[in-house]
Amino acid sequence: MKIASIVGARPQFIKCAPVSRELRNEHEEILIHTGQHYDHGMSEVFFEELAIPKPDYNLGIGSGTHGRQTGAMLGAIEDVLEKEKPDVVLVYGDTNSTLAGALAAAKLHVPVAHIEAGLRSFDRGMPEEVNRVLTDHASDLLFCPTETAIRNLGAEGITKGVHLVGDVMVDAMNYNRGIAEERSRILEDVGVEPGGYLVVTVHRPSNTDDRENMAAILGALAEAGKPAVFPVHPRTRKCLGEYGVLAEMPENVRLIEPLGYLDMIRLMAHAEKILTDSGGVQKEAYMLGVPCITLRENTEWVETVEAGWNVLVGAGREKIVDAIRHFSPGSRQKEIFGNGNASVLIGKILARSQYARSG
Ligand code: UD1
Ligand code: UDP
Repeated sequence: MKIASIVGARPQFIKCAPVSRELRNEHEEILIHTGQHYDHGMSEVFFEELAIPKPDYNLGIGSGTHGRQTGAMLGAIEDVLEKEKPDVVLVYGDTNSTLAGALAAAKLHVPVAHIEAGLRSFDRGMPEEVNRVLTDHASDLLFCPTETAIRNLGAEGITKGVHLVGDVMVDAMNYNRGIAEERSRILEDVGVEPGGYLVVTVHRPSNTDDRENMAAILGALAEAGKPAVFPVHPRTRKCLGEYGVLAEMPENVRLIEPLGYLDMIRLMAHAEKILTDSGGVQKEAYMLGVPCITLRENTEWVETVEAGWNVLVGAGREKIVDAIRHFSPGSRQKEIFGNGNASVLIGKILARSQYARSG
C-alpha cells in the first residue's frame, strides 16, 4: 500500500517517528514536509535524533497568516498527490499542515487517515480546534488515542472508520526514554538538580499574543522563586522581544533555545513540576509522572485533569503561583493513552482496510 504522510510542525515529527518506522515494514511511505516549521531546532534536529527518513518532498511553505499558509500548502500538496497517486494520505494532529493535507486529499478523492482524531477542547477560538473538526470530517480512517475522542466523534455523527489505537506519543516516549537518559546532558548543561526545578513551555497565541498573559506567567515564575527552565518557541521569543522583556527576565527564569526531543524528555522527567500550554507536553508530563500546570482555561486532554495529574490555571498570576506551591497529584497514574502499540495497530488497520491495493 502506498501511503503519503504529511508533517510540518515539531510535534508531528515526533509523532511520525514511530509510525513511519512501523509503516515501512509493510507499506511504501512517501514523506511530505510542508515546511511549516523550518528552523534547525524546530525541524531537522528531530529528523536527525529520531532517525526519521529524509522527506521525499519539502514544500518549503514557511510562516504566514492562517489563510495564506494553509492555502499555499493546499496547492503544493495537491501537486505532489497528483504525481504520487497514494492509496491513503496520513495526517497528524491539528496544525495547518494537518488541515491542508486532509483537504487536498479529500478534494482528489484520496482516502484520508487522521492520527489523533476526535480531540476537542470545545474552544473554537483556538486555530487547532477548527483544524481538528474539519480534518475529522474529511477523514475516512480516524485513529483515536482515547475513548473520549471516540465519544467526541460520535457526538458529531462520525462513527464509520473510527478506531481506538492509543496514542503514538506513548510509542515515541517508550522508544526514546532510555536513550534520552543515556545521551542527554541537559540537566548538567543548564545547571539544575533532579527534582529542583520547573520546566516551562508557552506557545499558544492566546498567551503569547497577549502581553498581560505573558507578564502574568513571568510574574508568577518570579514570585515562585524556583529555578525555571524555559525552552522558548520562536513565536514566543518574537513576542517577548516585541514586549521588550527579554532583557529583564526574572533571575530564576532561564530562557533557552528550543530543545531536541531527547533533551526535552530528560529535562521534563526530572522536573518538580511542568508549566505548559502545549498539548503534547501535558501528555508527556502524565506519562513521566510529573505534575502538570496547564496555562490554559481548557484542554483536549481531559483525562489528565480527571486523573488529578494536570490542573488548568489559565494565565492568572495567583492561580499559577498557588499551583506551583501546592498542586500535588493524589493517586498513581493509570494507563489512559494506551500501552505503546498504537503505531503497530495503525499499520495493521491500514493494511486490512478497503483502501489497501489488492495483490
Ligand atoms: C504551530 C501549530 C500549533 C502547534 C505548534 C507546535 C498551527 C495553526 N499551529 O504553531 O498547533 O502546537 O505549531 O509547535 O498550525 N517560527 C520560526 N521558525 C520556525 C517556525 C515558526 O521563527 O521554524 C515563527 C514564525 O515567526 C511564525 C511563528 O513562529 O510566524 C508561528 O509559527 P506557526 O507554524 O505559524 O505556528 P506555531 O505557533 O508554531
Ligand atoms: N518539545 C521539544 N522541544 C522543546 C519543546 C517541546 O522537543 O523545546 C516536544 C515536546 O516534548 C512534545 C512536542 O515537542 O513532544 C510538543 O510540541 P509543541 O508543544 O510544540 O506542540 P503541541 O503539542 O502543543 O501541538
